[in-house]
Amino acid sequence: MVGWEQVLGEEGIRNVASYVAQLGESNTAANPGETQFDQFCSTCHGSSGEDNPLLGAPSLVDASGHAPPVGNTVDLDNATYTNSIGDSELRGLWQDPDFKPHLPAVYYVRVLQIPTPRWTLYDKVRFDLQDLPANTPLITQERAYTSAIWYQPFK
Ligand code: HEC
Repeated sequence: MVGWEQVLGEEGIRNVASYVAQLGESNTAANPGETQFDQFCSTCHGSSGEDNPLLGAPSLVDASGHAPPVGNTVDLDNATYTNSIGDSELRGLWQDPDFKPHLPAVYYVRVLQIPTPRWTLYDKVRFDLQDLPANTPLITQERAYTSAIWYQPFK
């Protein structure tokens, strides 16, 4: 299969990427990547980047990779939370169902913590701060990923 670089050229890739990045935003300015997207991508991704389950094509509109919110137990009055969503500990054994010994591979695990009080909320409650700017974030959500495990086939 021909790579997209040969089809679109370097500038075309930049244009299409910037078009995809602004999909789903309401005030989309005219973008030179739109024509190429319609020509080369919309067959599978639809004209507005919606998902296409029959082809296994994911939605590009929420291409930020955001999973739906897990829920939030943060008590804003007391700066507390309960560890009652998801698992506080996970152990698992996973085998790659698509493993091909002749192909290099990389594996890692990502975790997303449930929302917890941010330091600003702890300070707000402890010192009874009434005049924090309205846009001060009071809740945070930590994420982490493991070191990668690389697999290289013998040459
Ligand atoms: C023949 C159908 C097809 C065409 C044409 C196609 N795609 Fe895809 N695209 C897919 C499928 C299927 C996936 C999911 C692949 C996977 O999960 O391994 C995908 C995944 C993607 C993703 C990753 C999305 C995510 O959330 O992981 C992006 C971005 C993307 N395509 C952009 C494009 C662009 C830009 C074009 C045009 C230059 C294009 N695609 C053309 C079928 C297509």
